Amino acid sequence: MLLSHVPGHFKSRRDALIKSNPGAVFIFPSNNEVLRNPDVPYGFRQESNFFYLTGFEEPESFLVLTAGSGSAPSKMVLFVRRRDATREMWEGERYGVEGARNVFQADEAYVTEDFDRKLPELLQGAERVFYRVGLNEAIDRRVIAQIDVHRASAGRSGRALLPISDPNEVLAEMRLFKRPEEVEALRKASQVSALAHKMAMKEVRPGMNEFEIEALIDYAFRKHGCQRVGYGSIVAGGKNATCLHYRLNNQPLKENELLLIDAGGEFDYYCSDITRTFPVGRSFTAAQAKTYDLVLRSQKEAIAMAKPGTTLAEIHQHVCEVITDGLLSLGLLKGSREEILKSNGYSRFYPHRTSHYLGMDVHDVGLYITKSGEPRTLEPGMVFTIEPGFYAQPTDPDVPDEYREIGIRIEDDILITPGGCEVLTADAPKERAEIEGLKH
Ligand code: GLY
Ligand code: MN
Ligand code: MN
Repeated sequence: MLLSHVPGHFKSRRDALIKSNPGAVFIFPSNNEVLRNPDVPYGFRQESNFFYLTGFEEPESFLVLTAGSGSAPSKMVLFVRRRDATREMWEGERYGVEGARNVFQADEAYVTEDFDRKLPELLQGAERVFYRVGLNEAIDRRVIAQIDVHRASAGRSGRALLPISDPNEVLAEMRLFKRPEEVEALRKASQVSALAHKMAMKEVRPGMNEFEIEALIDYAFRKHGCQRVGYGSIVAGGKNATCLHYRLNNQPLKENELLLIDAGGEFDYYCSDITRTFPVGRSFTAAQAKTYDLVLRSQKEAIAMAKPGTTLAEIHQHVCEVITDGLLSLGLLKGSREEILKSNGYSRFYPHRTSHYLGMDVHDVGLYITKSGEPRTLEPGMVFTIEPGFYAQPTDPDVPDEYREIGIRIEDDILITPGGCEVLTADAPKERAEIEGLKH
C-alpha cells in the first residue's frame, strides 16, 4: 500500500542540511536492486542517507538538493522510476513523479532517465557539490560527466570551478546526533530485539540447530514490528562463538556449550545491536562462569563511564584494563600488567574494540577519534554499543582445557543523555542467575 504522506521530520532534516550549506548542491543516488538469481533480487533496503532525507524506498532514484544562495531558491528534486502498468503488475506499485511531488514533497520531480540531462541545469549557480565518489562507478561517471558539461558551459565567465566534497562530511555529523523520532525508533528496535534474545534463552535446548534459533529470533523481530534484521544474525554455539562475525549458523547445539547470539532487528530503518551469551543446557560451567563474570564486570564498569564528556577511547582503555587484570588473576595471561597493556597482549583474548556508533547503520556514521582537532567526547543524543568479549581461539595451543574454545560477548546499546546514559537494551537479561532462572 502506498503512503499518502510522509512525516515532517524528513523535511526538517533537509532544511537543516541546506541551511548549514548555502550555495551547495547535494546529489544522493538511491540503492539499486541486486540480483541473487535470474529475475530474483535480494531484499531491497534503501541507502541510509537517501532514506534519512526522503523516506522514499524505491530503487533507481536520485535526490538532488540545491541549497540556493542569494536570491536563488533552495529546492528538493527527485528523479524516480516511471510508472509502468506491466512492471507494477509484476513488482508492485510505484509512486512515480506524481507521488514524488505529492507524497514526498519534492519541489520538482522527473523520471530517472532525465537525471543526466537535468543535472547541469541544477548545478547552475552552485558553489560546491556534495557527492560521494567511489560507491558506484557507473553513477560516478554519469555525475562527473555532467559536472564537466556544467564546467564547459561556464566558458570564460570566470565562474569558480566546482569543488566536490563527500556529503558525509556534513551528514554524518547530523546522523550522529539522534533526534527524538530517531531515539524512539531505536528504543523500539532495542525493546523488540531484547525480547527476541530473552525468547531464545528460554527456548534453546541441546540438539537444536543454530538455524532454528536464528529463525526464532527472526520471527520475534517481525512479530513485534521490526521490518527486517539490522545485520546478518550471528548464532554461534560453542567454539563458533570465537569467530567474531560467524555467519554459517548451521551447526547443532551441544549441552555444556555456550550459545552466543549477536542479533538486532531494524525498526523504521533504525537498528539494535545486542549480543548475549548463555548456556545451551541449564547452567554455566565453572570456567564459563568465571570468564562470563569478567566480561560482564568490564561491561558494567564501561556503562558506568558512559556520560557526556567521556571518550570512547577512555571506555575502551578501561575495558582492556579490567579484562587484563581478570585474565591475569585467572592465569590465562602471564607477565606484567603494564607490559600486557602496552603491547595489547590482551588482544589474544579480546581482539576487537569496545564500541561503535549505532543508528540507521549497525556500524553507524560519525567521527570517532577527534572532531575539529579536539578529542571527540560523548554528547547527548549519541548512540553506540558497549560490547566487550573473551575469545579463546581453537588455534591457541596454550589455553587450559577448561577455557578452550570459549567465546563470550555481551553487547548493549547506549544513548547518551544530559545526565548520563540510557541503556536501550536493558530488557535483555545478562545476569547469570537471571539467565539460568529462565530455563527452569
Ligand atoms: N553485530 C556486529 C557488531 O557487533 O559490531
Ligand atoms: Mn556491535
Ligand atoms: Mn553486535
